[in-house]
Order: sequence, then C-alpha cells, then structure tokens
Amino acid sequence: MNIAVIGTGYVGLVTGTCFAETGINVTCVDIDKKKVDMLRNGEVPIYEPGLDALLERNIDKGRISFTTSLQKAIKDCDAVFIAVGTPPDEDGSADLKYVLGVAREIGQHMEDYKVIITKSTVPVGTSFKVKAAVEEELVSRGVRIPFDVASNPEFLKEGSAVDDFLKPDRIVVGIESKRAEKVMNRLYKPFLMNGHPLLFMDIFSSEMTKYAANSMLATKISFMNDIANLCELVGANVDLVRKGIGSDTRIGNKFIYPGTGYGGSCFPKDVQALVRTADEYGHSLEVLKAVEAVNYRQKTTLVEKIKKHFGENLKGKQFGMWGLAFKPKTDDMREAPSLVIIEQLKAMGANIRAYDPVAMEEAERILGNSIEYAKDEYDVAIDADALIVVTEWSEFRMPNFRILQKLMNEQTIFDGRNVYDPEEMEEIGFNYYSIGRAA
Ligand code: UGA
Repeated sequence: MNIAVIGTGYVGLVTGTCFAETGINVTCVDIDKKKVDMLRNGEVPIYEPGLDALLERNIDKGRISFTTSLQKAIKDCDAVFIAVGTPPDEDGSADLKYVLGVAREIGQHMEDYKVIITKSTVPVGTSFKVKAAVEEELVSRGVRIPFDVASNPEFLKEGSAVDDFLKPDRIVVGIESKRAEKVMNRLYKPFLMNGHPLLFMDIFSSEMTKYAANSMLATKISFMNDIANLCELVGANVDLVRKGIGSDTRIGNKFIYPGTGYGGSCFPKDVQALVRTADEYGHSLEVLKAVEAVNYRQKTTLVEKIKKHFGENLKGKQFGMWGLAFKPKTDDMREAPSLVIIEQLKAMGANIRAYDPVAMEEAERILGNSIEYAKDEYDVAIDADALIVVTEWSEFRMPNFRILQKLMNEQTIFDGRNVYDPEEMEEIGFNYYSIGRAA
C-alpha cells in the first residue's frame, strides 16, 4: 500500500513514520523546503521521544520519503492524509485555508480513486468542505474520478506520541462508503494487536468525537482543580480525595491530578472551539465555559499563594522556577501556565531565573531577556527567595534538598504539581505550599 501524508508537523510526521513502520510506503509532503531537506537526513525538527530513531530506521529501509511536490506524492497512492495546521484566525476559530488549499491541490492532480482523510483537528463539518473543494477542482478539470473523504482524528499526547500511535486506545474513523472502510481497515489493522477497537462511524460523529474527548479531559482537570482549592479551605487533602474517588472505576484514577491548570496547543483551543460551535448553533455549553474560567483562574493559583506569603510588592525578590514547558517531555510552551506566572510575578517587580530540561531555547524565543536562564536545576536556586515548581519533570522529583537549602536565600517552595510530600518538606525545614493540601 502507498499513502501520502500532507504536512510534516507534529501530527503528520508521527502519522507518516508510524505507518511506515508497518511496511507501508509513505510519502510525506511539506511546502517548507528546509524542513523537507532536514527530514530527508533523518533530522526531526520537533522534540518527541523515540521519533528520531523510528524515522531513521524507516528512511534506511526506504519506506518513508519526503518531498515538496504534492502532485508527485499522491500519484499511485491509495490514501492521502491531510495533517496541515489549522491556526486560530482573528476571532479564534480554526482557519481552514491550509486544509482546503491542500484539498484543492489534490483535486487538481489526482488521477485515480483515493480516500482523502482529514487528520488535522477541524471543526465539525470540515470533511464535507474538503469533499466539496476536491469535487470543484475535478469539475473544473472536466474529469470524473471517484474518491471518498474520511475523518480520522488523532489522539496523540505530546511526549508519548509514538507510543500512542503504535498502541492506540482506539482509532476513530468517520466514513461514508464501504470502499473507504476497506482501505482504512487495511491501514490500521497492524495497530489493533492490543485488542483495542477501530471504531467506524459517520463523519460528523467522528469529527465531534475529537472535541468531546479533549473537552471531557479538560473538564476532569478543571473539576479536580476546583475541588483541590476547596480541599485547602476545608482542611482536606486532595491527594487522598483523588485516590478515594479514582478507585471508583466509573471515575478512574487517570487525569485527575490537580495542578497549575492545563496548557498546550490542544485543550485550550479545542474547548474554545467547541464552545464557539455550540454558540453558533444557539446552544450554550455552560459546563465547558466554566471549565475554561476555572482553568484561567488556576494558572494564577501559585501567584496568589506567593502574594499571601511575600505581599504584593515583589521588588528585589528572586524566584527560581523549575519547568517552563506546559507539561514534561515536551519543549512546547503554548498556553503554558509558566507564562502567566512569569507575567504576573514580573508585574509585581520580581526577578525570575528558570530552568527546563528541554524548553530553554523555546523559552528564550518567547520570553527574550525578561527572565534569567539557569544552566541547571541547582543554578536556579542561587540566592532565591523561593523556588516555584511549575512542570513535573522527573528530574525534579528527587532533588538534593540540602544543596537547595544552602543555595537559597529563604527556604520556601511553591509546588504547582504536588511533587513533594508536605510532611517531609516540613521535616527538612521548608515553608512548603502545594495545591489542595492544607499547608
Ligand atoms: C491532549 C490529549 O490528551 C490527546 O489525547 C490529544 O490527542 C491532544 O491533546 C490533541 O488534541 O492533539 P496534550 O495536549 O499533548 O494531549 O497533553 P496532555 O498530556 O493531555 O496534557 C494536557 C494538559 O493537562 C497539560 O497541561 C497537563 O499538565 C494537564 N494535566 C493533565 C493536568 O493538569 N492534570 C492531569 O491529571 C493530567
């Protein structure tokens, strides 16, 4: 089988590489020539554990190639995956110009039957816009070539995308015809070894599934953050409450960790998009509106604790920050809580010195010289009046607290991810503040 994947961003590159791993011939397309050249040499432009090794192997085996020519890539292929970006336009809704541009180009060049699959996260109804765009081009060429559209949302998590793709919990495919179902079945069969399902459904339901999944997960987080805040007020411990509720299998113990709020490129964008879609249909998604509001407030929770401890004037105060990325195992800082915390502390006059195991370059690109960049986790602590833990990288889990104490000016830790045990922190001699655990 031959497939083409259009767009070598995060989703496209992982999709192409993982399909190649099953023995399929994959041609990846990108308009960015520099990126295509890099990828041809096996250089992965994003930080994603395991992806570089997998890509190198499949390049060596000749199963994956890269080109800037969509026309060449779709020749002789059975399926084309559209995985280009959908950046938010001025009013925040997904801009479909790249997706529909690709659809048009496919229509301009295709010569035989193909399944055209939308893999980018797109508003409900987009696959039918793709269909209309392809059809229009075929009509203007005066040719009649059969094709099907399909929707195949991705459920990859940054930091574990390769694993998520190779061992998916489920695969969702929206289709309109048996012919497309057959192609998709063949493509995904190798990934079903763990017994998890390949779910075929109509296209609207498939597109909706992606938004509903991310919105439900975001809801779990905002719910737990709200409960954590209340735990503090009533003197309860959210860690125990979390275990208490998580052992009910209907609730489950995953994704109920309170923290500094969710970030990243997906939850904030997708929750907003679903709220907007519902508004357009005259239906107000009250729960999701609250999810967003709670998340915004949660990003400032540590700042509130810092204000309580130090007062509102932080001039001359030095803060060390552990973690800048929106979560561990990524260098992605989009919508990261660290950005809100830094902005607010700076506004109160504080100095910040930060360290992240992989996001330093990205941080410098976004924050410039508004903060200092430390060379390692202990460098952060030099003369610090407090240490703020924002991202729960595993290397922050077991630090040498004695070294920290020697380096720090004052022994105070604000832990936004509940990484440490409050009793232990007290024994060592830290003023320790965390989320949802009465200090
Ligand atoms: C998310 C979904 O989990 C994926 O299934 C989906 O494919 C992806 O969005 C997407 O739409 O492309 P991702 O954004 O990579 O994946 O990150 P997650 O690991 O889901 O974390 C999202 C945020 O929730 C992070 O800021 C994380 O710190 C926070 N979080 C997560 C919590 O605060 N508590 C938890 O218990 C879990």
